[in-house]
Amino acid sequence: MRLAGKSALITGAARGIGLEFARAYLAEGAQVALADINATAVAEAAARLGPGAHAVQMDVTDQASIEAGFAQAIEKMGKLDILINNAALFDAQPFADISRTTYDKLFAVNVAGTLFCMQAAARHMIARGAGGRIINMASQAGRRGESLVAVYCASKAAVISLTQSAGLNLIPHGITVNAIAPGVVEGEHWDHVDSLFARYENRPLGEKKRIVGASVPFGRMGTAADLTGMAIFLATPEADYIAAQTFGVDGGNWMA
Ligand SMILES: NC(=O)c1ccc[n+]([C@@H]2O[C@H](COP(=O)([O-])OP(=O)(O)OC[C@H]3O[C@@H](n4cnc5c(N)ncnc54)[C@H](O)[C@@H]3O)[C@@H](O)[C@H]2O)c1
Repeated sequence: MRLAGKSALITGAARGIGLEFARAYLAEGAQVALADINATAVAEAAARLGPGAHAVQMDVTDQASIEAGFAQAIEKMGKLDILINNAALFDAQPFADISRTTYDKLFAVNVAGTLFCMQAAARHMIARGAGGRIINMASQAGRRGESLVAVYCASKAAVISLTQSAGLNLIPHGITVNAIAPGVVEGEHWDHVDSLFARYENRPLGEKKRIVGASVPFGRMGTAADLTGMAIFLATPEADYIAAQTFGVDGGNWMA
């Protein structure tokens, strides 16, 4: 029960990594507001998780929705100690085919969404005066370019940079900001990635997943459960002196 008495809001928590984080935080004794643009899916997810899980419909690209969502979460839980900025979109295409629409959509969720959710959490935490924890979901993609993935890579590089600046600025308020950079993680997100690579690299469905999984030094893709240890650790007092960092949790993938 390392998070007993803590209240967390996790964006993009209707499925995948965010949902697994919610499950892990609840098991550690926290209350969790699961925030997602998909109202039905997030309500079902929170109901399945049971007591302590609260569904919040929130579009992280919409300022009014962010403010309403944080207010609702704080009303339900009484306070907010931890924010995990997890909602994100992925897309891939040859560089010459990138459209303004794709760029605007990905940056609105992955970058502006992260920034303004951090800000909403920080304003509450500063006003409350009890510090707090912010964890951003970056990616190995934010540490390097990838041939078909320019916009997503750039958006995750921006998440790493925002983690550094916000991390430094919020230290005096007792708020730490850090990020997790996963490698390749099983789930619906990667099924979508696989289908895009199938199209652009002319592969059968599932082949790209098999190749990237086999090339991870651990010999397999990660699972959402592989990431929960870091997400819990960063929210505990053991991580009090850690700020503005991005931690790879990727089976050695990026280093290799
Ligand atoms: N899966 C991977 O291999 C992988 C690798 C590296 C980094 N990541 C990062 O980890 C995080 C979680 O990834 P995942 O695989 O669980 O993704 P996912 O696509 O399965 O889930 C993303 C969730 O975000 C929600 N969402 C999308 N737009 C939103 C918006 N405007 N407002 C609120 N919610 C919105 C979706 O409804 C969905 O529930 C993301 O930040 C992703 O970039 C994932």
